[in-house]
Amino acid sequence: MTEYQTILTETDGRVAVITLNRPKALNALNTELMGEVVAAVRGFDADPEIGAIVITGSEKAFAAGADIKEMQSKSFSEVVGQQFFGAWDELSRTRTPIIAAVAGYALGGGCELAMLCDIIIAGENARFGQPEINLGVIPGIGGSQRLTRAVGKAKAMDLVLTGRQMKVDEAERAGLVSRVVPTDEVVSTAREVAATIASKSFIAASYGKEAVNRAFESSLTEGVRAERSLFYSLFATADQTEGMAAFVEKREPEFKHR
Ligand code: CAA
Repeated sequence: MTEYQTILTETDGRVAVITLNRPKALNALNTELMGEVVAAVRGFDADPEIGAIVITGSEKAFAAGADIKEMQSKSFSEVVGQQFFGAWDELSRTRTPIIAAVAGYALGGGCELAMLCDIIIAGENARFGQPEINLGVIPGIGGSQRLTRAVGKAKAMDLVLTGRQMKVDEAERAGLVSRVVPTDEVVSTAREVAATIASKSFIAASYGKEAVNRAFESSLTEGVRAERSLFYSLFATADQTEGMAAFVEKREPEFKHR
């Protein structure tokens, strides 16, 4: 397996786990870590043995944001020239479902990384926020867009303009997180959810992910049309044949995955 400096990776059956590992900086997302997470996700997304990916941090911090110390001295021409943070966009193009297992701080880029994932499982100690306003900037990895779509304008505007942190009960009420569990069960729950997803038809799971994501990006009519054509095309797959035959024959399906 590839050697990384800022993350740990492992696989467990059809589940891949990526653990952000810069504990002294509360997993601040520097350029090296961004490159490593994107490379690891790309590798797992291309691996036919993998059906779901978990991204997690530590119990204290999922990630406390982009690395402020790295960003501090950058000029306008540098951030434009480097298309700073642009590499993160690749995560939104993966076919493999990605689960964020969030304990502790998910602030700034940390909250944005969680929102780039498909499902957020959060611990009771999780805190979400977009505190960039306190640094004289605004979110830069999609936070102003994904947070608004996830929780609506009222809360997104409040969080982005005040920089306040949202505790997990508020985040769940607002629709940002999928499930809340005791903090020490975040990773195990995320692994179980990932294993469940990975046991399904990969193509159906990836089309399900694509269809739900379309709801973020298109009108209702366009989204329903996209869903319908994805649904129709699944009838060309062996997994549809197997899944429906297994139901009728009262047995468990054996999906081909990919
Ligand atoms: N970047 C770089 N280093 C960070 C960091 C970050 N985002 N967050 C924490 N650290 C470092 C601290 O500097 C400190 O390092 P030293 O020991 O060398 O001083 C170490 O991590 C521990 O942090 P604290 O001592 O501050 O820990 P705490 O428990 O007292 O506070 C915290 C925790 C409230 C999360 C606080 O660290 C904090 O406010 N961090 C910054 C949060 C933030 O502003 N995030 C947004 C970043 S900008 C961004 O993300 C832009 C974007 O949209 C992409």
